[in-house]
Amino acid sequence: MIVTVQQHIMFEQRRRHPEARGRFSWLLSGLTLAAKMIEAKIRRAGINDALGSAGETNVQGETQQKLDVYANQALLHCLGVRDSVAALVSEENEEPLVFDRAAETGEYIIVFDPLDGSSNIDVNVNVGTIFSILRRPPGHVGDAILQPGHHQIAAGYVLYGPSTMLVYTTGDGVFGFTLDPAIGAFVLSHEHVQMPEQGRIYSVNEANADSFPPAYSEYFAALRKKGYTSRYIGSLVADFHRTLLKGGIFFYPPTKSHPCGKLRLLYEANPLAFIAEQAGGLATNGRSRILDLTPTDIHQRTPFVIGSHADVTNFSN
Ligand code: AHG
Ligand code: MN
Ligand code: MN
Repeated sequence: MIVTVQQHIMFEQRRRHPEARGRFSWLLSGLTLAAKMIEAKIRRAGINDALGSAGETNVQGETQQKLDVYANQALLHCLGVRDSVAALVSEENEEPLVFDRAAETGEYIIVFDPLDGSSNIDVNVNVGTIFSILRRPPGHVGDAILQPGHHQIAAGYVLYGPSTMLVYTTGDGVFGFTLDPAIGAFVLSHEHVQMPEQGRIYSVNEANADSFPPAYSEYFAALRKKGYTSRYIGSLVADFHRTLLKGGIFFYPPTKSHPCGKLRLLYEANPLAFIAEQAGGLATNGRSRILDLTPTDIHQRTPFVIGSHADVTNFSN
């Protein structure tokens, strides 16, 4: 018998939190609905005028693609109508969207990268959506967003690839679901995902090699000596998904033009770090555990090293 993501969340809630009132399951159904809307748009992107630039730049100064805008609107709409949401934080919005909801109802803060991998949208290469869920402490909303990653209560991503997959954790293992287009549901396909302890692949944009700190270049040379091969898609979700299933290590190091790297702590590094650790892997900023960092800004960047436990541990900076 199939298990859909909705059923899985409900079973897990009953098993781990028998007192739960279904609010969390209802919240996640907002995410899966948005994911299916985004997937439907991407699936037909070449024939529905969804490709190309939207003509705006976002808060990072990056050009927004039409699909960035669509994905953001889908998530803001599908989540904003759920009354358990206290605030929404998006890569595409400079400021958080804070809802005027009582602490007893508005229990959650959702942080997301609506569409990850913008440079790959127009060329029919995998893109993704990344999300992180935080609890809203009573009496706070806007000032409660900057929580360290170990406070996340759930995190996940959707990979729009040859098949569309949803991978998530609520802190009790990592589960993967594959969208069955015939029934329009995410069906459990990967149970208790474990990252191999060590891999044979490293992943980094080597065009930046001239400006990596020496410790990075030295480590890559050591990996090559050990016979590692290299893969780099340029969509973090896709590069991470491969690392999760096959093992190995992904880097976005500091560079001269981006001294903190390019990736964002709240909606890229934190959720993937939570998933990696739940699958037996590890994520650091080159020195410290990502999940221990206290954010100071919702859009802050961090150097990012993530993957198999042994591969990340062996990299000391
Ligand atoms: P986004 O599309 O959400 O702005 O993220 C793009 C990111 C990420 O997906 C990828 O890992 C990285 O940009 C690639 O950057 P480079 O092109 O500098 O390698
Ligand atoms: Mn991104
Ligand atoms: Mn994005």
